[in-house]
Parts: sequence; structure tokens; C-alpha cells
Amino acid sequence: MNKAIILAGGQGKRMKADMPKPLLRVLGEPMLEWVISACEESGVSDICVIKGFRGEMIDEYLGGRCETALQAERLGTGHAVMQGISFLEKDTSGNTLILNGDAPFIDAATIGESLKMHTEQGNSVTVITAELENPHGYGRVIRTESGISGIVEQKDATEEQKNIREVNSGAYWFRTADLIELLGKLDCNNAQNEYYLTDTISIALSEGKKAGAFKSENSEIIKGANDRRDLLALNDYAKRAVIDKHLENGVEFVSTDGVIIERGVEIGVGTQIQPGTIIRGKTTIGSGCVLGPNSVIVECKVGDNVVIDTSHAYNSEIESGVIIGPFVHIRPDSYIKSGARIGDFVEIKNSTIGEKTAVSHLVYVGDSDVGRKVNIGCGTVTVNYDGISKSRCVIGDNCFIGCNTNLIAPVKLGKAVYTAAGTTVTRDVPDYALAIDRGVMKVNEGYTLRKLKTEKK
Ligand code: UD1
Ligand code: CA
Repeated sequence: MNKAIILAGGQGKRMKADMPKPLLRVLGEPMLEWVISACEESGVSDICVIKGFRGEMIDEYLGGRCETALQAERLGTGHAVMQGISFLEKDTSGNTLILNGDAPFIDAATIGESLKMHTEQGNSVTVITAELENPHGYGRVIRTESGISGIVEQKDATEEQKNIREVNSGAYWFRTADLIELLGKLDCNNAQNEYYLTDTISIALSEGKKAGAFKSENSEIIKGANDRRDLLALNDYAKRAVIDKHLENGVEFVSTDGVIIERGVEIGVGTQIQPGTIIRGKTTIGSGCVLGPNSVIVECKVGDNVVIDTSHAYNSEIESGVIIGPFVHIRPDSYIKSGARIGDFVEIKNSTIGEKTAVSHLVYVGDSDVGRKVNIGCGTVTVNYDGISKSRCVIGDNCFIGCNTNLIAPVKLGKAVYTAAGTTVTRDVPDYALAIDRGVMKVNEGYTLRKLKTEKK
């Protein structure tokens, strides 16, 4: 069986982050997540992650999804793989993929094609390489007429070797049994006094085993991040790649300024994304929508022809034809049914808003079930929290809630109920009734004139 070891022991001191470098995020997901998902997509799901610096954070993130092994001291990439020896020994029949946890763009196609070459050539080890404009910092691939002869690290390279532009990606396929044997032969006689995994190639060749290099056409797959500038460059690249995919699918972008779309997002044909719009998580968006400017949509299911203008929506479902914004906050567990209109300065939380209902301005609806064709007047508040517990309000179909109504939960309004403006509703109201709660209004004629007179004195 084929399996993978992902190296994630490094701290990345230059990041100045108090966390393992592979947990730093690219387009919303830790780099480690990108690497694991590429593995899984290529059909390799038996994975061991080598953790080191703040390893407990890796365990916490993975939550038992993969095996982990601790590298207590950071003595190099070869030493890191040695920590996975018991994982390797469990089944030595197949091949093992080694990946860097901080090079997020390795992809399933490259993993699959390199495995094919590895097995067809009968190699003990196959390294994945690419040509870089600027190879500085990477291990250089040394080729001879008969194939590759080894990898030389930047710090150990001669001036001539430094001119080589083909570099080691840090990703390899090994025959598992050979990997175990080769790890036992590594030493740390080099410029960094580290156990270099790269040395396995020259050792294998010296023992008459076969080693090969799979050169990828796409040099992005090898890019990693050593500092914050690199991390930003990875984010920029990923962002553009995702937008390109959506352009390909017929999504319209007026400008991509400030647009961030995570890779799990799906968007239908003809939807327009306006500047400053951020769409995250596993959000799905239908066709013909207009999203933005400046909207944030996280983990939502959005139907067709929806408008979300300058608003935020989280973990909610918004059906077709809904118009939201500007300045609306849809908080988690809300369900906005088709044709509803959620106007400006409205907050909806954990509530259902029925079809064609209008919540047009300055309203808070929390923990409530609102029926269809309801009109909720300006300034209405569902008073869902008494300081100790939260309760629900139910508003039936065709209700007309007057401006500045307070609905003291739990309370239930039947069908087609009216509430008079300014009413505080404290008990249930039956179908077709009017709830009105008002003091008697007095008119004190000439009041202003009298007041002015007394103040002048
Ligand atoms: C390594 C390769 C280099 C390659 C480059 C690609 C070696 C000796 N060099 O260099 O040829 O071009 O990757 O990015 O392998 N790690 C541990 N424990 C350690 C050391 C590293 O877990 O003791 C992890 C790091 O977290 C990282 C990966 O291994 O995910 C690579 O380590 P890094 O120090 O970045 O290797 P490079 O020197 O860049
Ligand atoms: Ca590196």
C-alpha cells in the first residue's frame, strides 16, 4: 500500500509566528491542509505528519485525522523522516511519498504522474523537480548523461552548481523498503550538520539502486514560504488561480480588487462578483447573483439571482431571488426564503424569514420563525434574551408588524396579525387580530410659546 509522510516539524523563525510554519494559512487554509488534500485527492490516505515545534498545535488541528510522529530535535529533513520509521515499518510493500508541509501547491496530478514514472522505471527513489528563474535557497539537481547523480544544497554547492536551475521540490517517491534502508545510512557531514533526506539519492545510486527525477512543468507546485513575503506571494498566486477557474466557468468580475474566494467555493454562471467581496469555506452560489461590493459570505448556500450588497452572511442558507443589503448582518443558522427582502441595517440571527417577507430597515430578528409575506416595520426588535435564557418568537404568514414593535420572546403571533407602531407584545396574539399597546396621547396646545416666554424672563 502506498502512503505518505508530510514534514511539518519546522518553526519558520523568519515568519515570527508562534506556531508551526505549516499551520500558517494560504487562502484561508493551513498550508498543511493543502498538502494533505493533494495527497488524499491522489488516492494516498495513509498519512503520517512529522511534527516538531509546537507539535501539539498540529495534533489539535488534525484532530486524529492522520497519524503523527514527534521530532523532538530539529536535525534535518532526513532525521525528520526517521521519526516516521514505525509508520513505515507497518507495511513495507509499497511506496512512500514524502512531502514538505510548507509547499502547499503540490497537486494530485503531479503526485500521480511522478508515481507512474517511479514505478515504470523501477526506481528506489524519484524526486519531483522543477526549473526556477531564481533557484537560490533550493537544493540543485545534478544530472549526468546517465541520469541524476544527486542533490546539492545551496550551502554546500560550488559556484558552478549554483547556476543549475533545476531544483528539488522536497517531494519524493521512495520504495518504502529502500527508504528504511537508506535512512539508516544518512550522516550529517555537511555545511549545516543536518541529516539531509536529499543524500538518499546519491547513496541509493552508489549501491546500484535506481534514482530518477520527475520534472514538473508547473514550477508553482514547489513554491514554499520561508517568510511573510513568501506567504503573501503564495496567497496572491492561490487567489488568482481560484479567480481564473471561476472566469473559465463564466463568472463575471468587474475588478478583482479586494476579492478573495477560497478554493472550496462554487459559483454559478453569470454571477457577478464586485470589488471587496470575500467568499469563504464551502460556500455555494447560484447563477445570476450580484455579490458585493464589500460583502463577506462564509459557509453559505446561496440560490440564483440573489443580491448581497455590502453585507455579511455566515453559515446560513439564502434562497433564490433574495435581496440583501446594504449593511445587513446575517448571522449563523439563518434561513432566508425565496424573494425575501432584507434591507439596510438589519441583523438576522438563527431565524427563518419566509418567502417574500420584507425586513427592510433597522431591525433585529433573533431566534425567530417569520412566515411568508410578512412586513416587518422599521425599528422592530425581537427581544429574544432576558439576560439568562434565549427564547423564540413566531410570526405567522401575512403579518404586518408596525414600526418599533418589541416582541418579548417567547411569543407567538398568528396569521395576518397587525401590531400597532410602538407596541410591546408580551403575550400571544390570535389570527387576524390587532395588538396595540399605547398610552393615551395628549396634545398640550401653545406649550412651546409658554415655554419660550418663561425661559426669556
Ligand atoms: C529542503 C531540501 C531542498 C529542497 C527544499 C524545497 C533537504 C536537505 N533540502 O530544503 O533540497 O530544495 O527543501 O523546499 O532536504 N523539517 C522538519 N524537521 C527538520 C527539518 C525540516 O520537519 O529537522 C521540515 C520543515 O518543516 C519543512 C520541510 O521539512 O516542512 C523542509 O525543511 P526546510 O528546512 O524548509 O528545508 P530546506 O532547507 O528548505
Ligand atoms: Ca524550505
